[in-house]
Amino acid sequence: MENKTYREQLDLNRIPQHVAIIMDGNGRWAQQRGLDRTKGHIEGVEVVRRSLDTVVSLGIKYLTLYTFSTENWNRPQYEVSALMDLLLNNIEEEMFFENHVRLKVIGDMERLPKDVQKRLNQCIDDTKDFDRCTLVLALSYSSRWEITDAVKNIAKRIENGELKASDINESLLSQSLSTSFMPDPDLLVRTGGELRLSNYLLWQSAYTELYFTDTYWPDFDEDELCKALLSYQRRQRRFGLTGAQVEKTDGTTQK
Ligand code: IPE
Ligand code: IPE
Ligand code: MG
Repeated sequence: MENKTYREQLDLNRIPQHVAIIMDGNGRWAQQRGLDRTKGHIEGVEVVRRSLDTVVSLGIKYLTLYTFSTENWNRPQYEVSALMDLLLNNIEEEMFFENHVRLKVIGDMERLPKDVQKRLNQCIDDTKDFDRCTLVLALSYSSRWEITDAVKNIAKRIENGELKASDINESLLSQSLSTSFMPDPDLLVRTGGELRLSNYLLWQSAYTELYFTDTYWPDFDEDELCKALLSYQRRQRRFGLTGAQVEKTDGTTQK
C-alpha cells in the first residue's frame, strides 16, 4: 500500500461522473514569487491542460471549471483584459481533438469581448460531436445570475401561455438552468484555501461532496486531483437516508 501512488489507490469503479473545480489562488501564487498576478493566470492555463488530460484518462465525463465569475468583472481593468487575452489565445481545437473532448460554456457570454465569443463559439461548434468528456467553462458566470435568468425565462413562458404556475417544480427549474445538459457535480474541489462557494453552482451542488485544499491552482497536479478523488471515494453519500439504508442498496460501508 505504501508504495502505491495516489492514482493507483483509486477505485476505478467509483470515479465521479462530474467534477467541478473553483480554480483559486493564481494571484497569491504569483505575488508570493514577486511576480505580477497575471503570471499566476498564465501558469494556471497550463494546469488546466494537464488536469484535463488526467480527467479524461480517468474516465470522468464532465469537468466544470470556474474560470471567470460575474464578480470578477470588478477587478482592475488590466487584469480583466489579461484574462480575456489568455482565453482568446488558449482556446485551441487541438487540445480538444487530441482527447475527443467537447467544449461547453455556461455564463453570460454576451458580456465577453466579441473576439472571445467568436473563438469560443467556433470551438464549441467544432467539438460538439465529441463524447469522451465535456469540458465546461463557467465564464462571466454566477449562480444568482443563472437562477435569475432561468426564473425570467419561466415567467415569460407563463406569460405567453406555454406554462402554468403549477407546472413549476424542481425538475423544470433544473432544466431551465444553463447546466441542463449535464448531471449535477458529484465532487466540487476548491483550491487556494478559501472555504466558500463564491456564487458557483449553488443549485446544482445541493448534494455535491465538497473538497477544499490550500494548494494554489498553479501548483495543483495529478497527485492533488487524485487526493481529492480518494477523499470522495472514502465518503458515503446518503442523500438524507440513514447509513444502513444506503448500505443495503449500494453496498458501501458507513464511515
Ligand atoms: C483565481 O485566482 C482565478 C480567477 C478568479 C480568474 P485568483 O486570481 O482569484 O487568485 P487569488 O485568490 O487572488 O490568489
Ligand atoms: C472564484 O474565485 C472565481 C473563480 C475562480 C473564477 P475568486 O477569487 O473570485 O473568489 P472570492 O472573491 O475570493 O470569493
Ligand atoms: Mg481568488
